[in-house]
Amino acid sequence: MMVDPTSERPLLGRQLTRVFGEGEMRTTALNEVSIELERGQVALLMGPSGSGKSTLLAVLSGLLQPDSGQVMALGQDLWKMAEIQRERFRLKHCGFIFQGYNLFAALTARQQLEMVVRWGEGGSAKEARRRANEMLTLLGLGKKAHLRPSELSGGEKQRVAIGRALIKDPEFCFADEPTSALDWAHGEQVIELLRNAAHERNATVLIVAHDARIIPYVDRVYNLEDGCLHENEEEGRAEEPHDHTGRNGNASAPLPQHTLRRFLQ
Ligand SMILES: Nc1ncnc2c1ncn2[C@@H]1O[C@H](COP(=O)(O)OP(=O)(O)OP(=O)(O)O)[C@@H](O)[C@H]1O
Ligand SMILES: [Mg+2]
Repeated sequence: MMVDPTSERPLLGRQLTRVFGEGEMRTTALNEVSIELERGQVALLMGPSGSGKSTLLAVLSGLLQPDSGQVMALGQDLWKMAEIQRERFRLKHCGFIFQGYNLFAALTARQQLEMVVRWGEGGSAKEARRRANEMLTLLGLGKKAHLRPSELSGGEKQRVAIGRALIKDPEFCFADEPTSALDWAHGEQVIELLRNAAHERNATVLIVAHDARIIPYVDRVYNLEDGCLHENEEEGRAEEPHDHTGRNGNASAPLPQHTLRRFLQ
């Protein structure tokens, strides 16, 4: 892994607080959360439903304004930027994978990806087609490139959404439950793609997920509980050489028992 420890952290969240609702409905989704993400690493954010994971991802990626605290992204204060600047920042530097896919109903799988290259980067139609085909093939969707979302299964739609996030080779990749619609074989492929974006292309990757099978693939594991963040120091293990033989998800991945207990209950 080529990480320069002296380089500035690409993404810093400081004392982030976000509250929803009022009175009896008041929920503190984030309670003074601080987090530092490294270039070239995959961070995994886990925690019970409602603990604030999606909220943290949205705040760090410039989609949801915190009530207080600061997000420094590539040395810029994300929440001090004008809205239009923040939009440009997201377009240029961030790939998003949401659980709801957010695909355009009228476009084929290939067109969803081509659009990013053509309109996001100003690439030519030929370049867009080449890269879209390459990415769809990588995702096992080469033969489905001409289909629209309504003609694709949930897992296939999820893979198109992943292709759309990664085709622009983003500096940051934010993935909220990217594997939840997939069987483990496809889920593993997705995690490999995200690892590849970090380890080979030096992206900063943040994944929100419940599935403990992902833990052996990532560099850092964070736990959110009731809006408070803790890092599980012992659990990031992606620096080990990758070994395909033990990682088929049949409980043969080398997970500490206490980790399994905590995440599978
Ligand atoms: N727009 C909103 N309006 C009101 N409350 C909200 C809103 N968004 C989130 N919340 C509340 O904030 C808390 C954290 O929500 P969040 O979506 O971040 O949880 P999560 O950890 O992603 O959960 P899950 O694993 O179920 O996706 C929850 O109690 C939720 O009800
Ligand atoms: Mg969520």
